[in-house]
Amino acid sequence: MNPKKTILDIQKMKATGEKITVLTSYDYPLTRVMDDCGIDVILVGDSVGVVFGGYDNTLPVTMDEMIYHTRAVVRARPKALVVADMPFLSYQTDLRDARINAGRLVKEAGAEAVKLEGGTHVAATIRAIVDMDIPVMAHIGLTPQSIHRMGGFRVQGKKEEQAQRLIEDAKAVEEAGAFAVVLEGIPLRLAERITADLSIPTIGIGAGPHCDGQVLVIHDILGLCEKYSPKFVKRYADAGALIAGAVSSYIADVKKGEFPDEGHSFS
Ligand code: KIV
Repeated sequence: MNPKKTILDIQKMKATGEKITVLTSYDYPLTRVMDDCGIDVILVGDSVGVVFGGYDNTLPVTMDEMIYHTRAVVRARPKALVVADMPFLSYQTDLRDARINAGRLVKEAGAEAVKLEGGTHVAATIRAIVDMDIPVMAHIGLTPQSIHRMGGFRVQGKKEEQAQRLIEDAKAVEEAGAFAVVLEGIPLRLAERITADLSIPTIGIGAGPHCDGQVLVIHDILGLCEKYSPKFVKRYADAGALIAGAVSSYIADVKKGEFPDEGHSFS
């Protein structure tokens, strides 16, 4: 039986060159399935607001919602490392709020690490949380909580000056004590450069093949999110069609009086 994964295992993988696999999960049953497959890290992402809650972006997601979903994931007792996202407004106000909310995700929900978005400007926040012995995964590049500043979900770091700033962001979060960093929506050569510069693992999403690991949203790989389909998403299944088939058969059976039959009834 594989032992429980820790941040030390994840960091070791950078040294050995083994790619780190990360998927989002927000519930008990999908966590059970992906953990049995051997996923390394489960991210309870604030993407839950979009793919589960139906919002247009992640900004409305609350701490209570993150705690609810993280608890559901943790109840599946995954061997994977469980990282919970800090939602918008849970860490931007001041260091005290950031510490309390990171602590809530660990104490009330059972997360083993937290993730927050931003580079140089959140370095002090990362340090404050790491100083409480809570591991932090950083997240730079296309940071969805900054959608209004970025003017939409746009690839970041295409211009030299922007790329330079992202390199500085990556160094700042590493120096602040982050154990890993998500690189989202940046050119593959920039991701390759950052990955080579850092001693902590980089986890790419829309950042090309040279990162130390990859993360995708589970609903995207299952074909369960019709709202948007970024170029970087690879769909591995059409679960929507599978579910539609099952639901249609159920409706037809009930309408025809074929379900429930005696085999599904009590005598
Ligand atoms: O919220 C999320 O799911 C994320 C990943 C896509 C990196 O932040």
